[in-house]
Amino acid sequence: MRWRFSTLGSGRPSAKSQYHQGGWQCGFANVGLIMGLWMLATPTWSLVAATDPATPIPVATERSGGNVSLASSLGVRFIPGSSTTLLIDRNGTTFVVDLARQTIQVRASSSATAPGQAIQLASMHSPPQEAPSGAKIFAARCTACHGPEGKGGGAMKTPDFTNPAVQAALPLDAVIKVVREGKPGTAMPAWRESLSDEEIKAVAAFVRSLGQVKKPEGGTSGGEAMQLVKAYEPADDYLFSLPTGRRLDRHGFYLNFTHRFVYTPAFTGPGNLNTMFGLDDFSISSFGLRYGVTDKFYVSAYRSPSLIGRPIELMAAYHFADEHDGNPLNATVRASVDGQSDFRNNFTTNLEMIVSRTVTRHSQLYFVPTLSLQNRELITKPGTLASTQPNLPGINTFSLGAGGVLDIRPTVALVAEVIPTLVNGSELGIHRPAYAFGIQKRVLRHAFTLGFTTSPGTTVSQRAGTRATFVGDPSGDTPSGLFIGFDLMRQIY
Ligand code: HEC
Repeated sequence: MRWRFSTLGSGRPSAKSQYHQGGWQCGFANVGLIMGLWMLATPTWSLVAATDPATPIPVATERSGGNVSLASSLGVRFIPGSSTTLLIDRNGTTFVVDLARQTIQVRASSSATAPGQAIQLASMHSPPQEAPSGAKIFAARCTACHGPEGKGGGAMKTPDFTNPAVQAALPLDAVIKVVREGKPGTAMPAWRESLSDEEIKAVAAFVRSLGQVKKPEGGTSGGEAMQLVKAYEPADDYLFSLPTGRRLDRHGFYLNFTHRFVYTPAFTGPGNLNTMFGLDDFSISSFGLRYGVTDKFYVSAYRSPSLIGRPIELMAAYHFADEHDGNPLNATVRASVDGQSDFRNNFTTNLEMIVSRTVTRHSQLYFVPTLSLQNRELITKPGTLASTQPNLPGINTFSLGAGGVLDIRPTVALVAEVIPTLVNGSELGIHRPAYAFGIQKRVLRHAFTLGFTTSPGTTVSQRAGTRATFVGDPSGDTPSGLFIGFDLMRQIY
C-alpha cells in the first residue's frame, strides 16, 4: 500500500527509503516528518489520493461543496473561505492542517469546530512534541534510561537528546536503526520484537523532535534547563594541545590519539602540496587513556614516542566547578608526573589549573596556568630510538595557555590556542610562544581536530616547547614553521 501526501507540498521520495518501504517520506521540517510518520503509523489513513493506479481518485473534483460524501468518508472537512486550512477527522480526533505553514494541530474532539477557531488553532505553529504515540511510547519504554525529558545522563550515561550537537549526529534513519536493532555492547535494547515498525518510527520521530522542544520558563527545573542549554559543551579533552578541562562521565573511558607532523612545515616545506601539507611525513603519534572515576575526578595515562623523549605521563584531575551547576566558571586542577624513556629519567612534575567560561552558547574561552617543575628542553636526540634518553638539566617553568573555541556549525568548531612560557622559557630555548589553530568536528562521542601548530609536544610539560629547538631551526617557531597535526578522541564507554 502506498500513500502520497501531495497536498503537503513537501512530499518527495525518500532518499533513505530503507526505513520507509512502500512509503513516501514527507517534509524537511520536523513537523512534516512527524506527520508523515504518523501517517505511516496509521495505514488506513488517506489524506488525498492513493497512488494505486487501479483506483485513481481525481483530486481536482474534491472541492468544498463538491463531492461531499467522499470528503466525509475520508474524514476531510473544508473550511468555507479558507484556501490554506482543512480539517481531518480520524478516530475521534480532529487534525487542523495548515497547508501554507505546513503545520498540523491536534484537536481533542471531532465535534463540530467553528471555522474561526480552527483557523486560529492552525495558525499556531504545531509543536513537534505533540506526536502522541511517539511521546507515549517514549514515556513508557525509554525514560527509565533516557530520563523523563530525554536529557540522558544518569547511571546509563545516555546521550542528551535535547542537545543540538547530539541531534545533529543522529539523523532520523540512524535513530530508527538504533531503536530497531539496539546498540550492541551497550544497555540500549533492540525493540523490533516489542514495538511495531510504526511505533518505532513514531518514537524515533519523537526523539528527533526533542531537539526542538523549548525549555519551560521559570521554576527551578526550568532555570536548570536554561543553564544546560547555555553552558558550552567542549567536544574534546583538548582544544588542540591545550586541555579544555571538560567534565568526564563517571566511569567514562576515553581514548586520546594525537599526531604532529613536525618534520615538514605545512606551507613552506618542500613539495608541501605533494606531501599533503606534511601529512606524508613522520609524525609524533601519542596515545592516552582517560578514566572518569567520578564525574569530577579522573585519571589518565599518556605516552609520546621515542622521537620526542618517550615520556609517559600519569595524571589525576579534579573538576571542582562547572557552569552547568550554576558556577560562573568551569575549573579543573590537574597534577601530573611525566618521565622520559618510558618513565625512567628526566621526570617533570606539573600542576595545572584549567579555567573556562562560556562566552555565548557557541563559544568558550580557556586559560591554563601551568607550573612545570624540572621541565626539560624539547630536543630530538639522534640515535635515541633504541637507547635511554640522555639526562637533561631540569628547569622550573611557568606557562599561561590561553585559547578559544567557536562553533561555526552545530558539530563543527574553530579552535585556537597560544601557550607562552612566562617564566624561564628562554632557559629551555623557548623564544616565541607555541600556538595552534584548527577545525574540530564532533560526532556524538568522537571528536576530530585538524590543525596547524608550532608545538610538537602534547604532554603537559612538552606542549609549551616549540619546533625551533626540536628541529634545531631558530625560525622553526615562526608562522613559516607551522606544521600540520590532528587529534582524535573517542569515548569508549
Ligand atoms: C535499558 C536502558 C535503555 C532503554 C530502556 C532505552 N535505551 Fe536508548 N540507550 C541506552 C544507552 C545506555 C544508550 C547509549 C549507548 C551508547 O553508549 O552509545 C542508548 C542510546 C540510544 C540512542 C542513541 C544511539 C547512539 O547512536 O548513541 C537512541 C536514539 C536511543 N537510545 C533511543 C531509545 C529509545 C527510543 C528508547 C525507547 C524505545 C530507548 N532508547 C530505550 C539505554 C536504553
